[in-house]
Amino acid sequence: RIAERIGRPVVLVGMMGVGKSSVGKRLAGLLHWNFIDADDEIERSARMAIPEIFDTYGEGYFRDGERRVIARLLEDGSPTVIATGGGAFCNPATRQLILERAVAVWLDSDVDTLVERTARKDNRPLLRDGDPREILAKLRNERAPAYSQAPIHVVSANGPHTQTVNRVLEGIA
Ligand code: S3P
Repeated sequence: RIAERIGRPVVLVGMMGVGKSSVGKRLAGLLHWNFIDADDEIERSARMAIPEIFDTYGEGYFRDGERRVIARLLEDGSPTVIATGGGAFCNPATRQLILERAVAVWLDSDVDTLVERTARKDNRPLLRDGDPREILAKLRNERAPAYSQAPIHVVSANGPHTQTVNRVLEGIA
């Protein structure tokens, strides 16, 4: 059984719009594991939407809350697939925690795909103040060294997630 062999929670990391939540849900379905979206958990804990947290308290406060929520989700090591927000794995403390307690999978795709997928929702504070394509390209460059510390790297093509999910499964099994 693949699920037993993995033995640790699986944490998806990578840029906004790469498909961490969609891929995570499908992967959890295949493994018969729970799926948790860390951003949803943060919003539940804070009783605030993410843009509101950024506006009211700033990014530093958000990163700290994000680390605490992810620490809590990884506490008992139960078989769970967790999708993280794009900046989580770039925070050294959060990254260390994930590397210690989970199998981290970096989902990556080209900037065109990120632009297309992030355009579907207007809930990302980091994309508000400028051209999304420029911001996404810059962040992807800056963050690649952090993301590359994940032991598994899967490229997500622009199209259905089935193939990506299968590649993640091959990577972790
Ligand atoms: C962020 C990504 C978002 C969310 C917040 C910050 C980032 O999550 O955590 O807006 O720093 O890349 P998604 O990756 O799910 O969009």
